[in-house]
Amino acid sequence: MGLKLKSPIIVGSCGLTSSVEDLIRIEQCGAGAVVLKSVFEEEIIHDIKRNTHVTAPIEHYGESYEYIASHVADDSLARRFATIKEATQRMTIPVIGSINCFSHENWLTYAKKFEDCGCKAIELNMAILPYECSLSSEDVERTYTNIIQSIRLAVSIPISVKVGPYFTDMAKFMQRLSWLGIQGITMFNKSVQIDIDTDEMTMRSASCLSSHDIFYDTLRWVAILTNKLRCPISAVGGVYTSEDVVKLLLAGAGTVQVVSCLYPNGIEYLNTLNAGLKDWMAKKGYETVDQFRGIMSVPTHDKASVALRTQFMRYFAEI
Ligand SMILES: Cc1cc2nc3c(=O)[nH]c(=O)nc-3n(C[C@H](O)[C@H](O)[C@H](O)COP(=O)(O)O)c2cc1C
Repeated sequence: MGLKLKSPIIVGSCGLTSSVEDLIRIEQCGAGAVVLKSVFEEEIIHDIKRNTHVTAPIEHYGESYEYIASHVADDSLARRFATIKEATQRMTIPVIGSINCFSHENWLTYAKKFEDCGCKAIELNMAILPYECSLSSEDVERTYTNIIQSIRLAVSIPISVKVGPYFTDMAKFMQRLSWLGIQGITMFNKSVQIDIDTDEMTMRSASCLSSHDIFYDTLRWVAILTNKLRCPISAVGGVYTSEDVVKLLLAGAGTVQVVSCLYPNGIEYLNTLNAGLKDWMAKKGYETVDQFRGIMSVPTHDKASVALRTQFMRYFAEI
């Protein structure tokens, strides 16, 4: 994204990236950058509705809007932006703003506020899930495209689009996104796992922390897409060790985001991840990440299907 980082390990958007104190600790523990806890589209719409005469179309938000309207203090967004400004003034590593959005509404005007607060980039977490039978893959993909085209006009800082792993034509669509003038793609977002409480007979969310299992999907898609996109990939999902970080860099990731592993291990765990990366580099004789980034990715002119089919045959032919 054109940002110079002292480490490729960055902390992804989560509850640990909202207070100034935690953000400063994240910097002290060696993160290369940090993605702030997302501001949600519903929060922005609520703020617009309260502060302006613009008629915000709240109908299509339904319960998620009601939730925000009843749980969030009236000045919460103003306080969020004040916190972001303080963080960017006190920190030297890039602070990346984050918006969680799913529609192409007038929340887009708020994107500029992140830039005004000193954020060096914006990560747009597009949480558009194909849950409706009335939505075709073309409808979903069109929403992504529309939002990206509008936000590009709204801000001048780099934009990374955070996507989930569920698309009809994953490789082709990621390539098309990368052609829209964005500066990065963050893969992958994680949708909340739904569970049912059989005593209370209610729906609830399952644990929000990832297991290491999802790491391999992240690794696979980074390796496949690195040389096919026009922008770098920030890899996120299931990273728990410095070896995971090395693998994603070998697969071609520009940066590696960590989230779940910091919850049980603490923010200080960033020191361990950086030390492990440095040790591996020293053992292999590398002085910079660029010397080995992407050397294990699927080469530009190779067909990923052929390369991965070979792995499949090796595995199953031996069984
Ligand atoms: C407690 C928690 C809060 C999160 N909040 C956000 C958020 O506000 N915005 C966002 O884009 N992602 C959010 N995420 C998703 C993470 O940024 C990340 O994409 C996901 O957890 C996968 O990374 P991991 O396997 O290292 O946890 C959150 C994750 C967790 C665990």
